[in-house]
Amino acid sequence: MSKPKITVIFYSTYGTNHAVATIAAEAAEAAGAEVRLRRVKETAPAEVVAGQDAWKATAERVSDIPEVSHDDMEWADGYFFSTPTRYGSATSQMRAFIDTLGGLWMKGAMANKTVTATTSAQNVHGGQEATILGLYTTFMHWGTIIVAPGYTDPVLFEAGGNPYGFSMQPGKPDETQTKAIQHQAKRLVEVTAKLNG
Ligand SMILES: Cc1cc2nc3c(=O)[nH]c(=O)nc-3n(C[C@H](O)[C@H](O)[C@H](O)COP(=O)(O)O)c2cc1C
Repeated sequence: MSKPKITVIFYSTYGTNHAVATIAAEAAEAAGAEVRLRRVKETAPAEVVAGQDAWKATAERVSDIPEVSHDDMEWADGYFFSTPTRYGSATSQMRAFIDTLGGLWMKGAMANKTVTATTSAQNVHGGQEATILGLYTTFMHWGTIIVAPGYTDPVLFEAGGNPYGFSMQPGKPDETQTKAIQHQAKRLVEVTAKLNG
């Protein structure tokens, strides 16, 4: 049986979702997947990014990670998305990438593959669930099979109890949060492997 192929796709302004995506990529690899870690292209003007030290620092930190391409979408058997919350939705950078995928959607390139998503938001009730559910609406249009974590491991209760996908307030994931991200990534790999037969 070939290894499930997972593309981990993230956008991050201040580093949180970069950290989440990195943990997910490592966990997916540890679970037996071939993994591509990919960042979404920055669409904010360069002077806006340069005008905020924390944003500029993240941009520099992730600059070695390849930008996600259509080939990364076609190559993968499953996707792990991580995006900050913006006004209760995914970032415009993430949506801009998703909006380039019409051609792939029309030919069913994402159909019958697996997907899961995570987010961060400043406030616990600032739109964490809404952001993930908004992404899942898009994934249903693609015919992609959503692999939500549900409550399939006790660590999910400890990490905030979001059954749709891991979510957190900005910062570095702590030990419990790391375990929840690892569980979600591992589950994605396991379900993908089952579907691949
Ligand atoms: C334009 C903008 C809109 C935001 N909207 C929300 C929001 O609706 N709810 C919330 O709790 N946090 C909101 N935030 C905070 C971000 O979610 C937070 O900066 C992000 O989760 C950090 O992720 P990152 O470190 O990966 O960039 C917003 C931030 C910005 C800049």
